[in-house]
Amino acid sequence: MKTKKLLMIPGPTPVSRSIQDEMGRETIAFSDENFINDFNYCLTELNKIVKSDGEVFVISGSGTLAMEMSLSNVLKKGDNLLVVSHGFFGDRFIEIAKNKGINVDVLSSEWGKTVPIENIRETLKKKDYKAITVTHVDTSTGVKAELKEIGNMLKEFPEIIYIVDGVCATAGEAEYMNDMNIDILFTASQKAFGVAPGLLILWANEKAMLAREKLGSISEYFLDFKNWLPIMHDPSKYFATPSVNLIWALNESIRLINEEGIENRFYRHELFGKAIQKALEGLGFDILAEEKHRANTLSNVIYPDGVNDELFRKILAKEGVQVAAGLGAYKGKMFRIGHMGNIDKHYLISSIASIERTLYEFNIDRLSIGLNIIQRELINKSKG
Ligand SMILES: Cc1ncc(COP(=O)(O)O)c(C=O)c1O
Repeated sequence: MKTKKLLMIPGPTPVSRSIQDEMGRETIAFSDENFINDFNYCLTELNKIVKSDGEVFVISGSGTLAMEMSLSNVLKKGDNLLVVSHGFFGDRFIEIAKNKGINVDVLSSEWGKTVPIENIRETLKKKDYKAITVTHVDTSTGVKAELKEIGNMLKEFPEIIYIVDGVCATAGEAEYMNDMNIDILFTASQKAFGVAPGLLILWANEKAMLAREKLGSISEYFLDFKNWLPIMHDPSKYFATPSVNLIWALNESIRLINEEGIENRFYRHELFGKAIQKALEGLGFDILAEEKHRANTLSNVIYPDGVNDELFRKILAKEGVQVAAGLGAYKGKMFRIGHMGNIDKHYLISSIASIERTLYEFNIDRLSIGLNIIQRELINKSKG
């Protein structure tokens, strides 16, 4: 019998049975009253999750499309954009913006670190920037940006639109549109919502919608807020076919989030993140992100000497856990393990046990050391 392979890559994340069941339902017309009610429920609940009183868009597509949608609706050719990049996905904004003829300046950190807020403030003083992008958790580095602090600082620049990429964070790390002064936030279904890939979710506040209004007509059609807004206000209307079954699946994910409580969900992610990171360090790995800026949703794990990346991931997959490769300069030196969405302790404990068995194949005998650490972390912190 084959060992079950746990999906521990940083997205898509494991899709719970009850969410899968929603995708397996017989598809109905998007004009069906039942679906219209379901879509309305989805939109209302999504605003509650990030404490937004603005607009929310749920559209077929992935996180990259959401990145493009965020820029397309508030910036035009020749506008100034500041990209704060903590890795590969921060950098992706540069490519998208350049394609659109937007003037991009970039503040990048060394991988594993963050750009100091003071540097951001000083840069913003130099030019008339229309928007700034920040990736909440950059999946290439496992670094978490100081979202709230940046939002507070941005109050000194009330014209600037604060765009946050929450793809590897939303519903796993705390994000509150109003409290954090965020103007546009987006994610995709396959990360901390624990739904199969295929949907993007984008929240835009009044300031962002006003910026869209000021642009007049834009060359994007599918991505235009104005084409989707009537549907998001009244899902009985049509612009382009909604992903009926994925929206049902998202509703089930929302139901699970509400059942757990969003604050409890953030706490679980924090508990799991810290526990697995401590266990991995105990096994001789290093975590790329500096401790005070580590994400709770994934870990970017540097190998000890003598461990071949491809072989490690191959054996680990046979031992029952699939992880992702490192990106950029860390390709071959690091693996990435997701721990977000709808996962419980079994996933963490099995992952650490499988990693121990894999290390054993490399003549590194650390059997039960990581397990001892993670068990104690989970027991002690759960009590506290
Ligand atoms: C932080 C972040 N932004 C954007 C993306 C792009 O999302 P997608 O692959 O769904 O297009 C990813 C993908 O992993 C990501 O982690």
